[in-house]
Amino acid sequence: MNTQIKPKILIARAIFPEALAKLEESFEVRSNQADQIITPEELQKELASVVGALVTGSERIDASALANAKDLKVVANISVGYNNFDVPAMTAAGVMATNTPDVLTDTTADFGFALLMATARRITESEHWVRNGHWDKWSIVNNPLGVDLHHSTIGIIGMGRIGQGIAKRALGFGMNVIYYNRSRLAESDEKACGAKYVSKNELLQTADHVVLVLPYTTENHHTIGAKEIALMKPTATLVNIARGGIVDDAALAQALKANKIFAAGLDVFEGEPNVHSELLKLSNVVLAPHIASATEKTRRAMVDLAIDNLRAALAGKKPPSLINTELLKA
Ligand code: DGY
Repeated sequence: MNTQIKPKILIARAIFPEALAKLEESFEVRSNQADQIITPEELQKELASVVGALVTGSERIDASALANAKDLKVVANISVGYNNFDVPAMTAAGVMATNTPDVLTDTTADFGFALLMATARRITESEHWVRNGHWDKWSIVNNPLGVDLHHSTIGIIGMGRIGQGIAKRALGFGMNVIYYNRSRLAESDEKACGAKYVSKNELLQTADHVVLVLPYTTENHHTIGAKEIALMKPTATLVNIARGGIVDDAALAQALKANKIFAAGLDVFEGEPNVHSELLKLSNVVLAPHIASATEKTRRAMVDLAIDNLRAALAGKKPPSLINTELLKA
């Protein structure tokens, strides 16, 4: 009989059953296959008795969550964005923080482009038009009329891996690509994306489609608010696949209501899973429930990478996507 005590881990949200079964071979697992979001109090309590945890953006890992986590060595995010992590607090507590870069780049770039197309060509609104029996009103001038993508200018704010993926897709549509980023790309990367670096204001003033792909940080809070929207063309679209809080959703709702811009496509929201009530009333906005990485293949790859990170950290090795690398130098 195997009497070895298994280390205890927490899996804060539901994962694929096969992945869970595999983890159960090596660990005593506190799982949450019912997928109920756990409260900060419950999270603090759970983290007090485990050596590792798999979490998602719905779990905030900060000093309070870590207050009693004396044995915790690693928290693996099943997400590339990690604004749910207070990294300095994790580092101070000696807890490794990991995320899931690369495996979702193309899937997320695909979705960004799909959301842009749905927004510019009013696809969800058109579907409602059909479902609501308006097809008999079809005419040259009376359909939901969109704006073109081909040969227009796309302005990408945040030119990391996903932003560059969107730029490459835009080239296939004959689009002119401009971008703004905290730091300018290497010339070879700009060339590969056919992208021209411009200031944020120039981007907002000249782009026909503005796509947001930057990470959320305190400095990036409300990167797009009333002032920035006022710079945009009245025919422009705005797509946010970055994070809630990058856009001032109340200001955006007001602008869309007053037709200050043509339309918006939003996959992320301030205060998710809540959506600003004014946005819900508008037809010139396409809404999605934070699904940019949501294909089965990619979600499985994200879970697998998060597990690799967790296993490596607990085996005393460097996790493949460690965020607080300074822990290794200590
Ligand atoms: C990420 O990985 O950051 C995505 O937003 C999750 O879908």
